[in-house]
Amino acid sequence: KDPNNIMENATEWMTDFSDIESKFSFRTIEEPEDDLCYIVPGQPETIKECNFNPDTKTFIVIHGWTVTGMFESWVPKLVTALYDREPTANVIVVDWLSRAQQHYPTSAAYTKLVGRDVAKFVNWLQAEIDYPWERLHLLGYSLGAHVAGIAGLLTKHKVNRITGMDPAGPSFEYADAQSTLSPDDALFVDVLHTNTRGSPDRSIGIQRPVGHIDIYPNGGTFQPGCDLQNTVLMVATSGLRNMDQIVKCSHERSIHLFIDSLLNQEQESMAYHCSSKDSFNKGMCLSCRKNRCNKVGYGVNKIRTRRSSKMYMKTRDVMPYKVFHYQVKVHFFGKTKLSYTDQPMKISLYGIHGEKENIPYIMPALNTNTTMSFLLTTDTDIGELLMVKLLWEKDTLISWPWWNPDTFHIRKLRIKSGERQSKIIFSAKEGEFSYLSRGGEAAVFVKEKETQSSRKNQRLHKLKMHGSSFKQSTE
Ligand SMILES: *[C@@H]1O[C@H](CO)[C@@H](O)[C@H](O)[C@H]1NC(C)=O
Ligand SMILES: *[C@@H]1O[C@H](CO)[C@@H](O)[C@H](O)[C@H]1NC(C)=O
Repeated sequence: KDPNNIMENATEWMTDFSDIESKFSFRTIEEPEDDLCYIVPGQPETIKECNFNPDTKTFIVIHGWTVTGMFESWVPKLVTALYDREPTANVIVVDWLSRAQQHYPTSAAYTKLVGRDVAKFVNWLQAEIDYPWERLHLLGYSLGAHVAGIAGLLTKHKVNRITGMDPAGPSFEYADAQSTLSPDDALFVDVLHTNTRGSPDRSIGIQRPVGHIDIYPNGGTFQPGCDLQNTVLMVATSGLRNMDQIVKCSHERSIHLFIDSLLNQEQESMAYHCSSKDSFNKGMCLSCRKNRCNKVGYGVNKIRTRRSSKMYMKTRDVMPYKVFHYQVKVHFFGKTKLSYTDQPMKISLYGIHGEKENIPYIMPALNTNTTMSFLLTTDTDIGELLMVKLLWEKDTLISWPWWNPDTFHIRKLRIKSGERQSKIIFSAKEGEFSYLSRGGEAAVFVKEKETQSSRKNQRLHKLKMHGSSFKQSTE
């Protein structure tokens, strides 16, 4: 038998449970950490014994490669979060620890056999109690994401959904769709990519899109709060025993982003379709038209585009991860030609519900008579914007010449909010221009009394009122 030819005689192997090595642990709300009851393919009585609820959804959680040979600490956290959101659901944790603690390439190759195990389990469970396919949701982390993909490929019908949490890169970046997670493996496949640094063959997480929706938080390369400084801090506070956790910080962030989406329903993060990370970082992709934006994680809108869709978002460094995205567009006028790179700015946003002051931003280029577009985020909802301040910091202590600081003139500032889907034009608070001087005072802008879009809205409002005036007069 060739273990690599997983399609070999599909019907025969499907009902042979003797070679299943993976275990299917039914976890409970009360004891999310413990393996108290296993559902065993071929033993229908175990379905009842574990109190499997046939009338609700089932989540099947699949872990990845492990150094310790034990379940990692995220497993009970995810189980708890799933039950928090769906209290009556069934949460089953696949235990393939013995195959997952080999040399990485060996464990990576085992994803095929484990995927077969999971497919057999699902097919059997489905047939045994006539369980609806649309209630099945597989969630796989790292190598487990590919296990979920292979399982989804081999089930008799497509399962409803597979969520891939930073699917593993090494051995999979260039592999075919049958060996990796792919959009064909479920009715809907959503993927979070959180640790895709370096060249494709070196990256811990797979770089290419493998689902219907592929989200790259913070560019997908590495995650805030996982940098060296924090790493050193974590080693200092929790000791070297947790080195394992530290190395995986960005990789595992994919799971915590999903947990966040389960627990903090009222603070759903948004991701935006974009052609590239660079365009996103210039704030150019904050549109929600034609399904260009989507909710992240559990509450995602299941939009199946023909081609894989790369989406981007920024996050905070701790849960809840949601931030609010803004595109700022500004034109720098000047009589004399000035040209700078990497200028430190501080931007303050004032809204109806609050303010966010001195958001640092390094302006990559600052040239006379050019327009810049950039992305800003706030970690709280400050509501509709009313005022903006722009400050150009001195990057050195002694700026020369101090008596004649370089100054740009700014007439207007345009801000588009991703979360509100609004565009607001700001004009100089006093006079036609605000002045932005290096090391000088902040340039202040206020919301225009009547912008074109609000005029349009007024017209629309009038139209609506007019249309309903008959109804109103009869009331
Ligand atoms: C698959 O297995 C069945 C039952 O053992 C057998 O009848 C059939 O010929 C096999 N098919 C292939 C393509 O090997
Ligand atoms: C920038 O444009 C303004 C008119 O829009 C012009 O008066 C000014 O000379 C230009 N500055 C430079 C450096 O070309």
